[in-house]
Amino acid sequence: MAIIVKDGCFKLDTKNTTYAFHITKFGFLMHTHYGAKVSDVNLDYVFPLVRNRSYINSPAEDTGMVLNLTDAPQEYSGFGVGDFRTTALRIRHNDGSRAADLRYCDYEIIDGVVQPEKLPCATLNDAQNVQTLKITLKDSATDVYVNMYYTVYEDTDVITRFNEIINKGNTPVYVEKAASLQLDLFNRDYDLVQFEGRWAQERHMKRAPLASGTQGFVSRRGTSSHNHSPFFCLCEHSATETAGGVYGFHLVYSGNHRTEVEVAQFDNPRVLMGINDEGFCWKLDGAEKFTTPQAFMTYSADGFGAMSRNLHKFIREQIFRPKWKGVRRPLLINNWEATYFDFDQQKLIDLATTAGKLGIELLVMDDGWFGHREDDKTSLGDWVPYKKRLPAGLKPLAEGINNAGLKFGIWMEPEMISEDSDLYKAHPDWVLEIPGRGRSIGRNQYVLNLVNDEVKEYVVGAIFGVLESANIEYLKWDMNRHLTEVYSATLSADSQGEAYHRYVLAVYEILDRVITKFPNLLIEHCSGGGGRFDTGMLYYSPQIWTSDDTDAIERLDIQHGTSFGFPITSMGSHVSAVPNHQSGRVTSMSMRANVAYSGTFGYELDINKLTDEEREMIKAQTAFYKENYDIINNGDYFRFAKNDHFVSWGFATPDRKEMLIFFVQLEGGPNGSDAFVKLNCADNAVCYKDIESGKTYYGDTLKNIGLCFPLTQGERKAYCKHFKAE
Ligand code: DGJ
Repeated sequence: MAIIVKDGCFKLDTKNTTYAFHITKFGFLMHTHYGAKVSDVNLDYVFPLVRNRSYINSPAEDTGMVLNLTDAPQEYSGFGVGDFRTTALRIRHNDGSRAADLRYCDYEIIDGVVQPEKLPCATLNDAQNVQTLKITLKDSATDVYVNMYYTVYEDTDVITRFNEIINKGNTPVYVEKAASLQLDLFNRDYDLVQFEGRWAQERHMKRAPLASGTQGFVSRRGTSSHNHSPFFCLCEHSATETAGGVYGFHLVYSGNHRTEVEVAQFDNPRVLMGINDEGFCWKLDGAEKFTTPQAFMTYSADGFGAMSRNLHKFIREQIFRPKWKGVRRPLLINNWEATYFDFDQQKLIDLATTAGKLGIELLVMDDGWFGHREDDKTSLGDWVPYKKRLPAGLKPLAEGINNAGLKFGIWMEPEMISEDSDLYKAHPDWVLEIPGRGRSIGRNQYVLNLVNDEVKEYVVGAIFGVLESANIEYLKWDMNRHLTEVYSATLSADSQGEAYHRYVLAVYEILDRVITKFPNLLIEHCSGGGGRFDTGMLYYSPQIWTSDDTDAIERLDIQHGTSFGFPITSMGSHVSAVPNHQSGRVTSMSMRANVAYSGTFGYELDINKLTDEEREMIKAQTAFYKENYDIINNGDYFRFAKNDHFVSWGFATPDRKEMLIFFVQLEGGPNGSDAFVKLNCADNAVCYKDIESGKTYYGDTLKNIGLCFPLTQGERKAYCKHFKAE
């Protein structure tokens, strides 16, 4: 059994971990353990009731002051009644008071999963050993209830969580903060590992020891953002790729998010993750409920590598929909960096014709095909083909591409509107704005107010119209600016704090309707590259454009950081032209491909301008990727090394009979030397053959001495080694 309940103690076991809490005096839920698996169910010794400390607070009825609420490791903390740390739930009541005093009411064990309504979440794809624990808490003074759901995925060492806040009273209450996940820990001996960045440099890993006070990160941009991924880790100071305790936390959400780790007065950290409460306020009339996004977490006692593999497997198996699970997705060419806005039907068909001969399977027509769009200043919202480029519309273009043997994909930016558009002329009031204020502008465009149902229906109709007009099998859904002046005239004054979240819910609803109507459509999520790279998006479709930065060397950091929390198969990665358009750097074709292979592989350059020799290289690359698709996209991923001189990573099949190892030398220098990469994915007892050279090694040799790569003079070099069990 994954969930054990005994004498007021709750123990949630996965294959290798235990999560535990218990009901203590006065009905508070106290957290006792999350980490490696333990056998005892009753762990109440971990938090003794009486602490002889000054300046503590106890609940009102605790006249003997046996419960120290100020420092207690609570399971889901309320507000204003004695816990002075940052808390999970803050409610404003109708009389203006702000308080939540949460006491245990009830529990229920449910076989399988319970899903948050209208939100992306983990599902029950093939999961055998899954149980859900529902715990109900109640505010002691009102009829506000909290249902907490913990779904335990025993086999993958993952626990998902979300909460419902329910107002069973007669007067409205206002939810000002409702975290999806709280985790109180007992000491501060951890590093916070976050994945921060900016446009073209997303998800760079940053690791720092926890300090006293509050640390963390937020998004206020209306999306999960390039700046802070809604994913992070906590690890023991000594944790490495292969050893040490590491927690991984994901929020399944694509809007404003907040992660806080507050190290409180006795060095006790509190972790909270959820919707960013800045500007957030959700009104609950009687009998209404608010559902938080889902969060999920894993723990590995064996370092970052195992933590990532838990998350990769879980996302592939439980977040991706069954339609895409393990299914091979097409190898594509995108015309953006090949042509930008300078294309027409013939140019795309010519690109497809050459692409077909090189083993490419899909052509994605990017920005510029609609309205009268010559640059990024016009036409967003007018989703009708631009006559100059596509005189007879999308159909003949799609046919031309299909005739060249490729599938056809299209770019849209459905959430946006240009001032220079027919849509704007007809509906200037559909823009997200606050009456009486100016509208801030980003990339020459405005955001549509999707909180307004009429606008949402227009967007759904526009997408359906495009997808129905031709044989379109792929949609790149872009979003190139962030939300400002977030307000909707369709909401009452006291519900404006709901606008940000309602916007995200509208995006989710549109995505849901699109994939319901077009179940075979593959969507590539994108927001100026990787600005909406989150598991909320991955629930609707399994791939995201990782970054607008296609430079192989820059991608080493971006893909390395992203790999901590997200499966390799979710990361769009393309070979582009040199000098690279973002960095100006020149790298070899082999380097560009060897980096781009670790993702949903494709091309983004004018292959008609290449030499015959380069085109032959592409032919070999597409054949290589197809041959190794399974190990890259469905195999286990390992990070071996990353330093100033080289980066190495690789894949192994679950049975460890096959390994694909990548190595990039960053800078050449004098006095060449050797780099030894210890392949911790190797099986000690297996004798592996290097497919290229024929040389054999035992797994324990590759693991303990390592594979040798030359560090040589000259330009940066990339290598790929393929091993199979003899
Ligand atoms: C940003 C995307 O990330 C690019 O790949 C491209 O689609 C442009 N937008 C087009 O405007």
